[in-house]
This record gives sequence, structure tokens and C-alpha cells, in this order.
Amino acid sequence: MTSGMPVIPHHVAIVMDGNGRWATKRFLPRVAGHKKGVDALRACVRHCGERGVKVLTVFAFSSENWNRPAEEVSGLMELLALALAREVPALHGEGVRIQFVGNRSALAPKVRAGLAQAEAATAANVRLQLNICFNYGGRWDIAQAAAQLAASGTPITEQSLHGAMAMAHVPDPDLVIRTGGEQRISNFLLWQVAYSELYFSDKLWPDFDAAALDAAIADYASRERRFGKVSGQVAPSPAKKVA
Ligand code: IPE
Ligand code: IPE
Ligand code: MG
Repeated sequence: MTSGMPVIPHHVAIVMDGNGRWATKRFLPRVAGHKKGVDALRACVRHCGERGVKVLTVFAFSSENWNRPAEEVSGLMELLALALAREVPALHGEGVRIQFVGNRSALAPKVRAGLAQAEAATAANVRLQLNICFNYGGRWDIAQAAAQLAASGTPITEQSLHGAMAMAHVPDPDLVIRTGGEQRISNFLLWQVAYSELYFSDKLWPDFDAAALDAAIADYASRERRFGKVSGQVAPSPAKKVA
């Protein structure tokens, strides 16, 4: 680092885990935790914008989350539609561009329409890119990219596969945060985390506030990213991407 300012990751990706436990601890239904989780996400988006993060990718619903009790699944679907309707105008005002990442085909028409509307309304914004991974799985993405290439007869290379993936519109995440105490990826961005810095927090997602995000960013700033090289080749900028 050349100044006293922390190195800000360009792209932060978050596994927002721990909503259910947050609610259960308070004798509330799990969906109450998911509602609190939306509030935490709202604050996180604002804080990322203020800190100069350019891309924020959040895991909101995994391919495997369909296996939860039907009531929780429908609660999460409702919540997505509600949160979009409620938050998009203000997000638009803050210069946030929203993009959905995942398999839309299995989603209810109402949810799909809400996502498409949010994308269209914010398409010209450039301050912060917010990717919402919903009905997303890293394996799904790799497989759908490979299927696209096979269908068009395109040779499969790292570059062509990367370009066909649902996350091709943004660079790979610099920092991946998982809240909720588990230290696993749970089928999040499998391809894209090849050289991401990983940060695990014991805080449950509804409790992950601005100070917690700043702590994650400060930790990131202390890392040396080597991308396979040796220390002498990449010094002196600790978290700076090398060519
Ligand atoms: C993460 O919180 C949100 C989703 C998976 C939708 P969880 O619902 O997994 O919360 P815990 O892990 O059960 O506490
Ligand atoms: C990962 O959390 C998915 C999301 C946060 C959307 P899970 O709670 O589904 O992950 P596991 O089941 O503990 O691995
Ligand atoms: Mg969980």
C-alpha cells in the first residue's frame, strides 16, 4: 500500500448465511430472519457504495435451497418479489445497477417479472453493480456454459467457458465473505473463486453490519495476492492484483 487508506476490493461476493439461526435464537419463524437479512443487505449495498466497492454479488437462494420446507421456499420467493418492489426505486437513486444471476426458468412469473423490471429500471447505472444470485449454483453455471458452447460448436477453452457463464459480465471476486460461521462454499461461485481471498465471519447475516464489513475489507487489505507467483514478484501492494 502506498497510502494509509485500506485497499478496497473491486468485487465483493457474499454468502449471506445465518438468517434462520438468527430467527430461531429469538423464537421467531425462520422467515423473520430472512426479512432481517434483507435489511442487512440493504445496509451492506449502501456501505459498499460508500466505500468504493464497484461490484457486489450476493448469494440469496441456492439451487439446493429448493429442498427446504415448502413454507420457507415460498416465503423466500415472496420476500424477493417484495424486496425488489420496495427497494428498487431507492437503489436506482443511489446509482445501483441490479442484475439477476441464476436459472430463471424455474421461478414463478411474478418473481421473474420483478427481476426483469429491476434490471431494466437500473440498466444505465454505473456506481455499483449488484448481482443477485437466486436459484444459482456454481455447478449449474459451469454446466449451462458448457452446454451453450457445445450447442454452438464452439471449442471449449478456459476463455470460452468463462465467457459463457452467468457471471461473465464482471471480473472474478476479489473478496468472498461467508457469514454464519460455516467454512464452506456451498456451490457458490465455483469457477470464479479460483484466486479470491476468502473471509469467514461467525456473525449471523442479519448482524453483519458496516463495522463487520469494514473489518473484512481491512483483513483483505492485509493479504498478499500472489496468483501463483512468488512474494518478490508481487510486492509491495498487498491486495493489489498483478497482471
Ligand atoms: C441464509 O440463511 C439464507 C438462505 C439460504 C436463503 P439460512 O436460512 O441458511 O440460515 P441458517 O444457516 O439456517 O441459520
Ligand atoms: C448457502 O447457504 C446459500 C445461501 C446463502 C443462499 P446454505 O445455508 O444453503 O448452505 P449450507 O446448506 O449450510 O451448506
Ligand atoms: Mg444456512
